[in-house]
Amino acid sequence: MSAAKKTRTNVKPKKTLDIKMIPIFVMGKRYEVPETLTIMKAMEYAGFKFIRGCGCRGGICGACATVYRKAGDYKLYAGLACQTVVEPNMYLTQMPFYPANRATYKYSDIGAGPEEIFKLYPELFRCVACNACTKVCPMGVEVMDMIALLKQGNIARAAELSFSCIQCGLCTSRCMGELPQYHIAQLARRIYGGKIAPRAKHLGEAVAAVREGKYDQCLSTLAGMDEKGLRKVYQEREMEPAMADEDWVPADTKFL
Ligand code: SF4
Ligand code: SF4
Ligand code: FES
Repeated sequence: MSAAKKTRTNVKPKKTLDIKMIPIFVMGKRYEVPETLTIMKAMEYAGFKFIRGCGCRGGICGACATVYRKAGDYKLYAGLACQTVVEPNMYLTQMPFYPANRATYKYSDIGAGPEEIFKLYPELFRCVACNACTKVCPMGVEVMDMIALLKQGNIARAAELSFSCIQCGLCTSRCMGELPQYHIAQLARRIYGGKIAPRAKHLGEAVAAVREGKYDQCLSTLAGMDEKGLRKVYQEREMEPAMADEDWVPADTKFL
């Protein structure tokens, strides 16, 4: 890490900003942190450096699953460290990896039927419908319903229901049936996307156009530009209006 980066990571708010400090406990040790920070930023403020358990910082990658409890409350809470704001006397620990079973398969060898999922993940039938997975999910996925749909063989609906899953692993950590729900859901989405969903006609046309070299000239023009030129093209490009019609195209179509 460079000196400049070190300085930025360790920046502490000046007292004149009048930010209230609150105590939190990270893996049992007490730290005073500004009350406005997310768990992730508070941990960095306290001196932790993330080499695992941090990715997008935007609630998308699922790397920062965190489990916590509040003083005087028996309940275990869970959330994403990059999205959850600290609270006074929060006891927390991070869960950057959960050792869930992940089946190995060759995608081209598996079929489109639910029996493929039953074979690769027989633990699917260990679900006891406790709903702990749904309650803990930070993305609001109806995890138990998704598992029930797969048991019924409805891959399409299960794939749709699990669309917002970010693979954080929290559901598996609470599952008394020891199901790797997010790996099972990923297989369902793969089967649905590649083997069940109808082929998109416009996508086929676009791929054919690429293969026929429709974009070769504009790509080589862009590849030949220096950084300044590329920035200019990017910054001056005509933007699609927020309320554009479905068939909107820019006035300059040379890069289409
Ligand atoms: S379904 Fe499970 S792995 Fe996916 S986001 Fe919800 S808790 Fe995380
Ligand atoms: S936590 Fe496990 S056992 Fe409970 S409903 Fe979810 S998948 Fe089923
Ligand atoms: S760092 Fe990606 S979801 Fe939190």
